[in-house]
Amino acid sequence: SRSVQVNPSILSADFANLEAELRRISTADAAHVDVMDGHFVPNLTLGLPIVEALQRVSPIPLDCHLMIEAPDRWAPAYAEAGAAGVTFHAEAAMAPVKLAREIRAAGGRAGIALRPATPLEPFVDLLAEFDMLLVMTVEPGFGGQSFLDVTLPKIARARAAIGDLDVRLQVDGGVSASTIERAAEAGADVFVAGSAVYGAEDAAAAIGTLRELAAG
Ligand code: DX5
Ligand code: ZN
Repeated sequence: SRSVQVNPSILSADFANLEAELRRISTADAAHVDVMDGHFVPNLTLGLPIVEALQRVSPIPLDCHLMIEAPDRWAPAYAEAGAAGVTFHAEAAMAPVKLAREIRAAGGRAGIALRPATPLEPFVDLLAEFDMLLVMTVEPGFGGQSFLDVTLPKIARARAAIGDLDVRLQVDGGVSASTIERAAEAGADVFVAGSAVYGAEDAAAAIGTLRELAAG
């Protein structure tokens, strides 16, 4: 079985205590940070100054998911701030390959994200420019939504398209102990989970359970 990663989303954390909330997930592979601008998605969360602050105190790498308009303008700064991964949305980017190269030049791993209704095929030939492909398994904007099974065929096609490339396949939205196996069987290898981890009494135990289920 391939190596799997679990990245808890701090969207479901207590925003008044983010340093402590990062410590709660210190056994995870990375902390998923949802940046929303109130335009690309109908919700507003946090931006660059808070990512810079989180980067200073986080015990684990930051995996930034930019749900913003104009990522061409903003994404490289997240890598410069020290984010290990910077994922921007395909629907919002004007020049995705140029942007991926700028993120990588700034020391970050470049990711490209697809909303549920965005087809994979236009991006297949670009995958070698990226370190990660994110197939959204809910409409981006909010935590706590139900996993969309209609995205499973796209996950499987993405796995086939990645082939031998060194590209991670992330899923985000509605990932829980009752859905993660379906996503893993379809081919995902990086799993974002917000409510399933932060809603648990014991976050480390929830992370461990998700990892075991995903590894099969
Ligand atoms: C949704 C965000 C997700 C969200 C996942 O727009 O991108 O990262 O936090 O939350 P859950 O796991 O609760 O669906
Ligand atoms: Zn996300």
